[in-house]
Amino acid sequence: MALTLGIETSCDETSVAVVQDGRKVLSNVIHSQVDLHREFGGVVPELAARHHLERLPQLLDLALEKASVKPSDLDLVAVTRGPGLVGCLLVGVGVGEGLAAAWDKPLTGVNHLWGHIYAAMLAQPDLEPPLLGLVVSGAHSDLVRMREHGRFEVMGRTRDDAAGEAFDKAARMLGLGFPGGPALDRLARTGDPGRQPLPRPSLPGLEYSFSGLKTALLYRLRDLGGKVTPQDKADHAAAFERSVVESLLEKLDKALKETHVEEVVIAGGVAANTLLRRRAAEVVGTRARLTMPPLELCTDNAAMIASAGSYARIYPPDVDPSLSW
Ligand code: KG4
Ligand code: ZN
Repeated sequence: MALTLGIETSCDETSVAVVQDGRKVLSNVIHSQVDLHREFGGVVPELAARHHLERLPQLLDLALEKASVKPSDLDLVAVTRGPGLVGCLLVGVGVGEGLAAAWDKPLTGVNHLWGHIYAAMLAQPDLEPPLLGLVVSGAHSDLVRMREHGRFEVMGRTRDDAAGEAFDKAARMLGLGFPGGPALDRLARTGDPGRQPLPRPSLPGLEYSFSGLKTALLYRLRDLGGKVTPQDKADHAAAFERSVVESLLEKLDKALKETHVEEVVIAGGVAANTLLRRRAAEVVGTRARLTMPPLELCTDNAAMIASAGSYARIYPPDVDPSLSW
């Protein structure tokens, strides 16, 4: 039995977790900083970094206590090394290095995007590569093929905005505040996507682009001027959501037709989206088994980092796992 302590501080969630054998979550303590950043309408990097440093000691104690584990029981410390906000990453890495040195444990730096894929392994005990993965977060929309543990190949990504970023910006245009993605998801449930449809972005190949869709929404709202009713807002939230979701799934469908795989994973913060979860199941159908982690494992958390870190130790990757796919 191997126990890994995970630390995640790449953006605005401070999280510490203990995971057994890369698969079993013993604790996963997550502190969201949304209340701190709300008045600024987005994440303020300096504030986030300082807050990570203030909160980590408490969260560490709590994660160990919840898991009923002592530092001497741990086999590995795994910490997110990138990608993310540099100041925030430095805090996590600094704390991880300090703990590993003080406890005399090995330390591994983890790629945050690998973490999102490994979140699915925590949810599905027998899930193993090869798999097709779609990581949709605030900064990435990456379609990847995972051939084996620690071996990823990017099949497609976004040319401009990531899906989460597009949701956040659209939410801001609709006056939904921060964090935008979940608010847009809620409002879209009361709208009709067909009443005032928006274009569905479609590039050749497996690439994504969401900036044109964002501009289309901006112009539409500008044309409506001061006459935007609450129902207009809900309809546009639903139309925007449908365009993003169908675009994400169109490429996933194409990738599935080109590559024979039995497992599909959709993960990252945007995988919490209600419509994406429903439509993904329909699009994948019986062609493969679809795993979308439960909501608390879709958004940033340290359990996924502990899992990815423990597998990176067993199957050493051929690239620097903290920086690249
Ligand atoms: O993976 P994540 O927690 O952090 C990053 O690594 O970026 O993803 C955060 C992103 C944000 O853009 C957020 O608005 C989006 O995920 N998100 C959602 C939903 N929940 C979170 N987007 C649409 N619908 C949701 N329910
Ligand atoms: Zn993330």
